[in-house]
This record gives sequence, C-alpha cells and structure tokens, in this order.
Amino acid sequence: MGEIRVRVPASSANLGPGFDSFAVALPLLAEYDLRPAKVWSVAIEGDGQGIPGDDENLFVISARATAKAAGRELVAQHVTQRSAIPIARGLGSSAAAIVGGAVAANALLGEPFDRRSLLRIASEVEGHADNVAAALYGAFTVALPDEGGPVATRLVFPRTWRVCLLIPGRLLSTEDARAVLPSQVSREDAVFNVAHGAALIAAVMRADGALLALAMADRLHQAARTKLVPALGEIIAAAREAGAFGAALSGAGPSVLAVAPTRLASRVVSAMEEAAAAAGVPGRGRVVRVRAAGAQVLR
Ligand code: HSE
Repeated sequence: MGEIRVRVPASSANLGPGFDSFAVALPLLAEYDLRPAKVWSVAIEGDGQGIPGDDENLFVISARATAKAAGRELVAQHVTQRSAIPIARGLGSSAAAIVGGAVAANALLGEPFDRRSLLRIASEVEGHADNVAAALYGAFTVALPDEGGPVATRLVFPRTWRVCLLIPGRLLSTEDARAVLPSQVSREDAVFNVAHGAALIAAVMRADGALLALAMADRLHQAARTKLVPALGEIIAAAREAGAFGAALSGAGPSVLAVAPTRLASRVVSAMEEAAAAAGVPGRGRVVRVRAAGAQVLR
C-alpha cells in the first residue's frame, strides 16, 4: 500500500440538549498525508501548538488502536497534518485526529472494519462518541450508547439553515470543561433534556426553526461551564436577538454555535462578535453550512 490522504471535518457537539449525543460536521477540514516510514511521526503544518509529533499524537494512538483491534501489524507512517480546525476550542480537533487515524489505519489494513466498528474504536480513544460520530459520518449525527459500543444515526441538516460560529482566541481543554460538570442531575433536569433533545431532532427533520428555538436549551452541562466561558449567556442572547433560532456552547467550549436562517446569518455572527468583544473575550466569527460528507480516504 502506497501513500494515502485522509480528510476529516471539524464538528460541533451537544447543540444544547444533546450532551455527548448530538453533533454536526463542519467544513473546517483536517488533512493527513501518510507515507510508510521507519517510526511513527507527525509533522504539523499550521496551528499545532502543543500537539505531540510522536507516538503520543492522537492520530497515531488511534491508528495503532485500530490495528490492535484488527489483530494486525501496521507499518509505521510519517504523517503530515494540515488542519483548519482550531485546537481546544470545542470544534472537534481531537476527534478529527482520532477519526483520521482510525480511517487511515483501516484503509492501510485493507478495510477490516465497517463504519460502526470504527466509531466504537474512535469513541474509546476519545472517551465519548458525539464528535467522532459527526467526523466519521458527516451531517447531523446522534450517537447512541449501546452494549456493543455506540451506534450513530445520521440526519440531513436543513439546507436553508446556517451555522454561525464565534471562536474565541483563548483555549479551553475538554478535560477542564468536563471536570466542572456535576456528577448527578435531578430527575426534573433529566426530563427537561430528554424532551428538548427529542424536540431538536424533530426540528431538524422538519426544518422547523420555531421548534428549534424552543428546543435548543440545556440543563445538563452549559450552566456549570459558564464560569469557564463567562460571556456565554450574552453571546447566546445576542445571537437570538439578531435572528438566530437558537445558540449553544459548541461542544465543551469555548466556541459558541448559533443556528440561523441563511438571510440573517451574517447579522447573527456580527452580533455574536460584538457581544464577545464587549464582554472582554473577543473572538472570530464564521458562517458555515453543515458538511454532508464525513471522513474520506483519498488515494
Ligand atoms: N460532549 C462533549 C462535552 C464534547 O460536552 O464535553 C466535547 O468534546
């Protein structure tokens, strides 16, 4: 097997009520070029601050975990990474590396695994399945825990909706953002999230913006994370006032995602930028569409 290239999208998890379950794939792409080498190494072009270039790299860990799961030897590779996914911003940069490693190893080994098996392997490396599901399948995904590992279901995202992102300059590790979460939730809050999560799925399936406006609320994780993302409430309020259906913390943060009708998307993103700057936590806005394609192998 010669050289291969793997392309993986960014992702935004949770979308409010779908903690560790929902995610969308986004058109900020990470590309990995592989060629056989004596030892594993990763050369990072672009934003790679703090990312290890050796065996500790998540791409390498995931590629090797995939080979191990197949009970096969995998020839070491030199990997060149070019990524447009900002790191530690709640946009799935680790999930992209993990999915990239799993998909690349699967291709190099002659595809012993189907997508569900790759989802299980990648989720084990990541620790939760939401971002890896969207990075692998594309579009809007629901990752469902099951005895044999997570199962993902994929939904087409409404074509007339845009995703408005506010990406702060500062970083926040997922580990830190999970450490502040309460270990127990009340029944009332669990019921709130079940109902809102189910309504969010219905809103996406019907392209029903009014229902999305009701559904994009959460009681499991966002409130606890507000101390790490101080302007979250103001940015969400600004997005909604400017015409977004709803807005939520993107994954573990600190980025914020809003969903808006196409014609209002630039207004929404400007309002989010202004609110963030006014709160002293400036960030960069982006308007994107949900990316239909998940991870791809290009030979
Ligand atoms: N669902 C995860 C969280 C996404 O909110 O912690 C972060 O990767």
